[in-house]
Amino acid sequence: MSDRYCVIGNPIAHSRSPDIHAAFAAQTGHTLVYERCLAPLDGFAATVGGLVASGYRGASVTVPFKLEAAALAGQLSERARAAGAVNTLVFADGVIFGDNTDGAGLVNDIVHNAGVAVAGKRVLMLGAGGAAQGCILPLLSQGPQAIVVVNRTRASADALVERFADAAPGKVAAADFADIDGPYDIVINATSASLADTMPAVPSQAFSPTTLALDMMYGNKPTRFMAFATAQGATARDGLGMLVEQAAEAFFLWRGVRPETDEILTRIRSAL
Ligand code: ATR
Repeated sequence: MSDRYCVIGNPIAHSRSPDIHAAFAAQTGHTLVYERCLAPLDGFAATVGGLVASGYRGASVTVPFKLEAAALAGQLSERARAAGAVNTLVFADGVIFGDNTDGAGLVNDIVHNAGVAVAGKRVLMLGAGGAAQGCILPLLSQGPQAIVVVNRTRASADALVERFADAAPGKVAAADFADIDGPYDIVINATSASLADTMPAVPSQAFSPTTLALDMMYGNKPTRFMAFATAQGATARDGLGMLVEQAAEAFFLWRGVRPETDEILTRIRSAL
């Protein structure tokens, strides 16, 4: 029987992950099944228990279960611990291993797909929720000059910076929107503002014609943040590349091979 995987979330019907993993499997010649799994809001642990008992080999985890997945995993990777969240579970040898591939996906998209090095750069991170937190350690591993975290609620930005104070002293700082100077080399929108078709109050001086502006959200048209960045002359990018890259990293964890993402990213985009 084929190895089985799934993506667990609530809601889950909209998830693109089955298409992405089916494409990875076809490309690499791996035979596997990857399904959508709707878990009840109060039934994540029971759902995972059922998957393990049924012989599943792993699962992706999406909204709203990433924090619960971190609590449930018997072992965590360093990057999952730093993120405080898990988006990939591996079921092997009776252990539930939790990893977080979101930050690696973001970094791979910036460095390899957009062709922009993070090393030595000034990075502005908008937002201080789970999406932002998951990306700090992978960004730091690239050796940026600085990461400035700006959040509407300043206390969350301060708490996020505090988490990474020992890992990289002086590299990560918090600021308020009103204090944003610039320009920055890379501006990342990790707020959920785009979901509400709005944008964080980032001023135009954060951007320049050499800035890469990346919104973690994606859709069939540019977000307000992307349109604003483009109007300042920056190069804007949505979160679809990050989505495909985090999936490629999960596929590597499960299958030991790293799929090529270019053609799959193009195909998934044309289906949006
Ligand atoms: P996620 O796990 O996706 O990061 P989250 O933990 O709910 O989700 O965090 C959402 C982030 O988007 C927060 O940083 C939030 O700012 P607050 O902490 O001040 O709430 C930010 N956010 C949401 N809507 C925003 C908006 N319109 N402008 C600026 N920031 C916004």
